Amino acid sequence: MENVKKCCANQQTSKTLLKAKEELRDIKGKEGALIPALHKIQSVYGYLPEEALMLVSEELDIPITQIYGVASFYSFFSLEPKGQHIISVCLGTACYVKGAQNILERLSSELGIEEGSTTEDGKFTLQATRCIGACGLAPVIMIDEKVYGKLSSHDIPKILREYK
Ligand code: FES
Repeated sequence: MENVKKCCANQQTSKTLLKAKEELRDIKGKEGALIPALHKIQSVYGYLPEEALMLVSEELDIPITQIYGVASFYSFFSLEPKGQHIISVCLGTACYVKGAQNILERLSSELGIEEGSTTEDGKFTLQATRCIGACGLAPVIMIDEKVYGKLSSHDIPKILREYK
C-alpha cells in the first residue's frame, strides 16, 4: 500500500514538473526571463520548491545561487508552501498606532504559529504586511482577498471561525 502511495505521489510530482517545464518553454532564451519564470513556477506550485528551481536553473542556464538570491530578495516569492488561506496583518503606520500589533499577537496565539509561518494542517499562513490602502479602516487585516477593518483583538476568534 505504501509503495502504491509513493508511486502516485511520484507521478503527481513529475506531472507538476512537466507542467512547470511547459510554462518555461515560451520564455526560455529571452532576456530578463528569470523573474517571469519564477512567477510561472509559483503559479504552478503555489511556492518555489527546490526541484522546480533546479529546473529553472537548467532550462535558463542560470546558476542556482543566483536564482535563490532573486527568489529570496522579492517578498512576493515564497520558498515555503503557503496555507489555503493567507492572513495578512497590516503593520503600516495608521494600523500600527491603532493596535495592529495586538491583532497580530491574537492571531498568532489563536493559530498557534508565529508570523511568517503556516499552520500544521496547511490551512492558514500568517504574515505581516505594509499599508494596504485602507487606512480609514485601521487596524486592518486581509484574509485572501477579503478586508476586515476597525478590528479589536476580540473580533479575531469570530473571524477565524468563518474559515474553519
Ligand atoms: S496603514 Fe494599514 S491600511 Fe494603511
